[in-house]
Amino acid sequence: MCGIIGYLGPRLAIPVLLEGLYAQEYRGYDSAGVATLEEGRLNVYKATGKIAELDKKINRQYGSATVGIGHTRWATHGKPSDINCHPHMDCHKHIALVHNGIIENYQELKGRLQQQGHRFLSDTDTEVLPHLLEESYQGDLLAAMQETCRQVKGFYAMLAICQSEPRRIVAARLDNPLIIGLGQGEYFFASDMAALIDYTREMIILQNGDIADVSDTGIVIYNQGQKVERSVKHIDWDKEAAKKGGYPHFMLKEIHEQPKVLAQTMNGRLKEDCQNIDLSELNLQKQDLEKVNQIAIVACGTAYHAGLIGKSIIEKLLRLPVMVELASEFIHKDPLIDERTLAIVISQSGETMDTLAALRVFRERGARVLAICNVVDSTIAREADQVFYTMAGPEIAVASTKAYSSQLMLLYMLTFHLAQILQRQNQQQLNAWFAAMYQLPQFAETLLAENEQTIQALAKTISSWEDAFFIGRGLDYAVAQEGALKLKEISYIHAEAYAAGELKHGTIALITDKVPVIALATQDSLLKMMVSNIVELKTRGAYVIALTKGNVPEVDQVVDAVIHLPETDELLTPVLSVIPLQLLAYYAALYRDCEIDQPRNLAKSVTVP
Ligand code: F6R
Repeated sequence: MCGIIGYLGPRLAIPVLLEGLYAQEYRGYDSAGVATLEEGRLNVYKATGKIAELDKKINRQYGSATVGIGHTRWATHGKPSDINCHPHMDCHKHIALVHNGIIENYQELKGRLQQQGHRFLSDTDTEVLPHLLEESYQGDLLAAMQETCRQVKGFYAMLAICQSEPRRIVAARLDNPLIIGLGQGEYFFASDMAALIDYTREMIILQNGDIADVSDTGIVIYNQGQKVERSVKHIDWDKEAAKKGGYPHFMLKEIHEQPKVLAQTMNGRLKEDCQNIDLSELNLQKQDLEKVNQIAIVACGTAYHAGLIGKSIIEKLLRLPVMVELASEFIHKDPLIDERTLAIVISQSGETMDTLAALRVFRERGARVLAICNVVDSTIAREADQVFYTMAGPEIAVASTKAYSSQLMLLYMLTFHLAQILQRQNQQQLNAWFAAMYQLPQFAETLLAENEQTIQALAKTISSWEDAFFIGRGLDYAVAQEGALKLKEISYIHAEAYAAGELKHGTIALITDKVPVIALATQDSLLKMMVSNIVELKTRGAYVIALTKGNVPEVDQVVDAVIHLPETDELLTPVLSVIPLQLLAYYAALYRDCEIDQPRNLAKSVTVP
């Protein structure tokens, strides 16, 4: 949430800042601004709306500044407006600052600063920061930042520049991500590595409590007043991975990347002979696992939906109780967790504040934490005992697609691995699942190739709906929840997922003529009951689109439309059944002319609670 960018070097700063903001626009897009230092003067440009508005306002008048900072905002305190937009400044417009995070004690600080005569212009929590810097500034921006960090409570990633020190950027980080990219005599700052990959692959990931002092003479990093060394990481992402690659939207590109991502996620872990799974990276030992009496999965949003699948498959294969909780709820409970709990936290970004807070609760209570993350070296990845990377590559669209399917793959592999170590399933059955899993990338490819046109046509119908129900039983119900979320968040069609067996306990009252229902019927063992549910809905006039595995005449004959998935083991169908739902949401949003990659009010990577 919110993206920050900074540059110090020989290039013109504004084009670098704008490009970095465009690359991070998915982190927030309600207003944007930049500040540069030029001939001892601070220049600030701000615009409400998307980065294109800021770009228009700047109108290629880049000046000659080679140092600057920028910000794209997702509003927390204070509505989107030029006044509330970052960078914020002190009273004398001497210091400019951009911030991602929340300053929890800002009211108290603001009151005190106002009493001391500071004048505030915005409704934001951030504005206390440049005033605090001003208050303690005595010719050294680093010292002022150290003092400011001592006074604030909350979390932040921030960059500050000062008119009196025109070749210096001071950066500070606590619980929000901040990366420094190293070029030849130049430094780049961003919330996300993907924004820097065009300039450099050598990056320092600041750690909690770090304050970095960056100037033409180099970088010095402090933590709690002491100089610290941070390693430089070489990031070997494919540059094109963070580009649209000819697709109109990142979301469509990421949906289409799924066959490749599924294969990448298995690569090196599931051997070609499908006889074994190698997860030695997790270092899970039989004697430790035998002590585990429950598994607890915590995540938010789409990652939580992956967790629901995790619960079903782990309980089925391991016969171990699994709790799955939304991180935002879990952290307010007094959860029944101890050192016999194996915790799994799932997060694409590895920065989601509530998931991070849950991870810390687990650790406090002695549980071992395994993180499933996509972003390498993210905070969650670093704080967990073990990390299991999804290998999905950068996910840029706000609506998560390929991260979800790769999270599922890891949950399957983990479950099979645990079942193998604990000898809870016979090897023959495991080998059959390995073989079926190995085919999934090919099946996903076929599914996309054979169904996209049909799905696009169905999405045209869906695009005129204002409500939709997604129903399913067992694993299908968990996928239905993800399908409903996708449709809601990008097409703004109201969608609800129901366990098909629950309809008769209330919700069926809403089913009248032409009420749209998307029915998942991919579970062989539950098919009979799903067919009855579908028939009950059709009897009441619903318009039903079904998802089945191959041809199922008893479904095909009664529904209005059907999407056939390739035939795979019912345990694994979620990896495939989610794909048509993602495409339905995508095309419905397209027909409704929605901002697909940047849906309203949302942002990727929710770094505030
Ligand atoms: C929905 C979506 C969100 C995220 C959620 C968790 O499409 O992307 O629901 O899944 O915000 O984010 P991560 O996985 O980064 O923790």
